[in-house]
Amino acid sequence: MARTPVVARTLPALHRALDKIRARNARVALVPTMGALHEGHLTLVRQAKRRCEKVVVSIFVNPTQFAPHEDFSTYPRTWKTDLAKLADEKVDLIWNPDVKTMYPDGFATRISCEGPAIADLEDRYRPHFFGGVATVVGKLFIQCKPDVAVFGQKDFQQLRVVTQMARDLDLGVKVVGIPTVRERDGLAMSSRNVYLSPEERRIAPTLYRTMKDCARQLRDGGDLKTAMAEGAAAISNAGFALDYFEARHADTLAPIASLSEGPIRFLVAAKIGTTRLIDNIGV
Ligand code: PAJ
Repeated sequence: MARTPVVARTLPALHRALDKIRARNARVALVPTMGALHEGHLTLVRQAKRRCEKVVVSIFVNPTQFAPHEDFSTYPRTWKTDLAKLADEKVDLIWNPDVKTMYPDGFATRISCEGPAIADLEDRYRPHFFGGVATVVGKLFIQCKPDVAVFGQKDFQQLRVVTQMARDLDLGVKVVGIPTVRERDGLAMSSRNVYLSPEERRIAPTLYRTMKDCARQLRDGGDLKTAMAEGAAAISNAGFALDYFEARHADTLAPIASLSEGPIRFLVAAKIGTTRLIDNIGV
């Protein structure tokens, strides 16, 4: 049986645990999550371990990044299995505040992001989202003062926003992005995949397959606009309601017209039934 990690649920408990770690001069990596942990999250934990002696994982389903019509109340919460998985990974500390601890009565501050947060991608469909993410991640960075923070490329725009925020606010954290972990059929692992019916689950890998097909077409000399139009049609024909399928500059997220302006990142968001999936690949 793996040793159970220390679990902190209040700020004094968190600071006591961190003080102990810091007293040994250990470097600390933070992996922010909303729980419902899968192999993607655990890969971030393993990468965090490679970079620092001590690993802190936060589990907090952050209400400020959900719009009222979104799935905050039904978001999967699987504390017991999460704890067992993090114990197996030998995580040192779990930061698991409740909503009142993170946002006490009267809380009235929000970190507002520009640059990669206004790229006409996720921000267009979830206008509340990056303000909520930046505010909670900013707080997590200030609370935990990690040397390194590990995020997934799965949420590519989020990774860019958090990297920019850490730099702009001199938070002293090195933000590291880890490639997306996928199921065998290519579907990007996500806590929301549990929402998919068997039929939707069968269709879901279309997003990844289509992006790969478009990338191949481009590398074979195909025209970007044509490839994107065909890709969008393939996604819609598979049964998705497409929010966007875009080719963007991988660093700036600016729109891009040809491979030569690259490096290109394809980014996609689409709904299958009531479940919204996002994914992206480098071309
Ligand atoms: P959550 O969706 O739980 O994801 C936590 C971290 O795991 C994020 O950095 C995300 O990009 C990464 N991740 C998710 N699926 C992945 C996959 N298949 N492969 C690799 N990494 C993956 O993202 C959030 O939570 C929240 O917005 C958060 C940053 C915690 C702020 O509330």
